[in-house]
Amino acid sequence: MDKKLLNKDAALELLHEKMKNQNLRRHCYAVGKVLADFYDYYSSPGGLTKEQWEIAGILHDADWEITKDNPGRHTIELLEWLENYEVPTELLEVFRSHNSKTTQLRTPETRLEWTLECCDELTGFIVAVALVMPEKKLEQVTVDSVLKKFRQKEFARQVDREQISQCEEKLGISLNDFVSLTLEAMKKNSELLSL
Ligand SMILES: [Fe+2]
Ligand SMILES: [Fe+2]
Repeated sequence: MDKKLLNKDAALELLHEKMKNQNLRRHCYAVGKVLADFYDYYSSPGGLTKEQWEIAGILHDADWEITKDNPGRHTIELLEWLENYEVPTELLEVFRSHNSKTTQLRTPETRLEWTLECCDELTGFIVAVALVMPEKKLEQVTVDSVLKKFRQKEFARQVDREQISQCEEKLGISLNDFVSLTLEAMKKNSELLSL
């Protein structure tokens, strides 16, 4: 059987087939949009295209709804689905690096892999900050409000601050700038994210 081309439309189609919860889908859209903006931010982003950076975000959790009671399968399931698609090795490696503390498949290494690792938790954190704003809107969220909540350990305590802060060491981007870029990317897509 011929393998399907994994363009953005195909990625969204796969996501929608496998994930029904709108909030979970929005998390995937958010990470995709953030990664697409980081592609533009880096002066030489490497071998993959901007569309492929976005696909990395769209699909990184595509199997999450199905595997949520079995976290050891998260990513493994996705990789099995992707066997039906034409996917560049570099992009497959990005998926293999996700949830790798559990799967042990691959430690994040490339810039895309570390950007995904750091912004994955941060997008969720920013949503949590938006939801405590008076209008519950992203528009009202500022870098300062995110950083202030970031320092409050009790706020959204399930969010792994360490994972986000690695942007400094692994990407050479200050936490302040990393938050700023992520927040701006999300604000530009507030309609898509329903925030
Ligand atoms: Fe995940
Ligand atoms: Fe995620």
